[in-house]
Amino acid sequence: MTVENRPTRNLALELVRVTEAAALAAGRFMGRGDKVAADRAAVNAMRLVLNTIQMNGVVVIGEGEKDEAPMLYNGEKLGTGEPPDVDIAIDPIDGTRPLAYGLPGSISTVALAPRGTMFNPGPIVYMHKIAVGPQAKGVIDINAPVEENLINIARAKGEQVKDLMVVILDRPRHQELIAEVRRCGARIRLIPDGDVAGAMMTCIPESGVDVLLGIGGTPEGVLAACALRSMGGEIQGKLYARHEQDYRAGREKGYDFDRVLTMDDLVASEDVFFAATGVTSGELLKGVDYFADGARTESLVMRGLTGTVRHIIATHRLRKLDMISAIQY
Ligand code: FBP
Repeated sequence: MTVENRPTRNLALELVRVTEAAALAAGRFMGRGDKVAADRAAVNAMRLVLNTIQMNGVVVIGEGEKDEAPMLYNGEKLGTGEPPDVDIAIDPIDGTRPLAYGLPGSISTVALAPRGTMFNPGPIVYMHKIAVGPQAKGVIDINAPVEENLINIARAKGEQVKDLMVVILDRPRHQELIAEVRRCGARIRLIPDGDVAGAMMTCIPESGVDVLLGIGGTPEGVLAACALRSMGGEIQGKLYARHEQDYRAGREKGYDFDRVLTMDDLVASEDVFFAATGVTSGELLKGVDYFADGARTESLVMRGLTGTVRHIIATHRLRKLDMISAIQY
C-alpha cells in the first residue's frame, strides 16, 4: 500500500461525538416546552466538542436566523485551526418543536466538506426540495411536474406510482402539492418536522419512503445533500421566497430563485462527512435513553468518499463525563 492510497482520516467518526454531545445535552429538555433552552444546550455542547477537532473550520450553514435561537453563527471559526480547511454545516437540533413538546423525530446533525464547497444560502431560509434514494438517482427534475417525477421514480424502481410513498412536511403551504400527489395516486406520509431525516429515509429501503417533496429549510437542504452524497441518493433544490421582502433580499445578494440547485451546487465535493444522533425517537434514529448513571444514543455516521454508513449505538457514563467535561448532561 502506497502513502497515496492509504485510508485517510474519517472525520465523521469525530463528528459523531459532536452530535452525541448535543443530543445528550438537549435530550434533557424533551417535553419541557422550551425550544430556546433545548437549542442552547445543543449549541453549547456542539461548539465545545467541535473545537476539539483537528480542523480549520468555518460555519457556512449555521442556525438561528429563522428561530431567533442561540446561534453557531455563519462565519464562526471552529476546530483547532490546523488543516484540513473545511466548511461546516450544523443543525444542532433538527426538530426543536418536537423536542420541546415531547414528539418524535428530532435529531442533531453536523456535516463537513472541503473549504468553499458548501452552498451558502445567505438570507434565504426556504427552498423547494426533491430527494430520492440511489435507485431513482438521475431521473428527477425539480422543474418537472409532480406527475412526471413520480412516473420516472416509479419506473426507475420497477414500481407503479401507486406503490410510491411521498414524504411531505405537514404545512399549509403544501396543500396544492398534497392535492397533486393524491391526484397522481401515490401515497403520502406527512411529517410534522424534520426534513433532513425525511430526505435520508429515501435512501433507507426499510423506511418505505421513496421521495421527499416540498418546501423546507435551506440549511436542512445542504445538510441533506451531505448525507445523500454518502448514501447514494440525490437531492435538488430551488430557493423559495416567502414574500417580496425575501425575494428582494435574495436578489440584492445575487441569489437566483429560478436556478436549479443540484447536488454539486449544494455541496460540490464527494469528500463530505456527516453525523446525526437521535434526540427524540423517530423512524430514522432512536432518541436518547437516560438511565441510572448513563445514557444510550443512536447515531448514523457517514463519509461521502467511501460511501460507508455506520450505525453507532453508544453507552455514555454520565457520572464519569461530569467529572471531565464542561457540558452538563
Ligand atoms: P428546526 O427544528 O431547526 O426549526 O427545523 C425543523 C424543520 O421541520 C426542518 O426540518 C424543516 O426544513 C423546516 O423546519 C421547515 O420550516 P418550517 O417549520 O418553518 O416550515
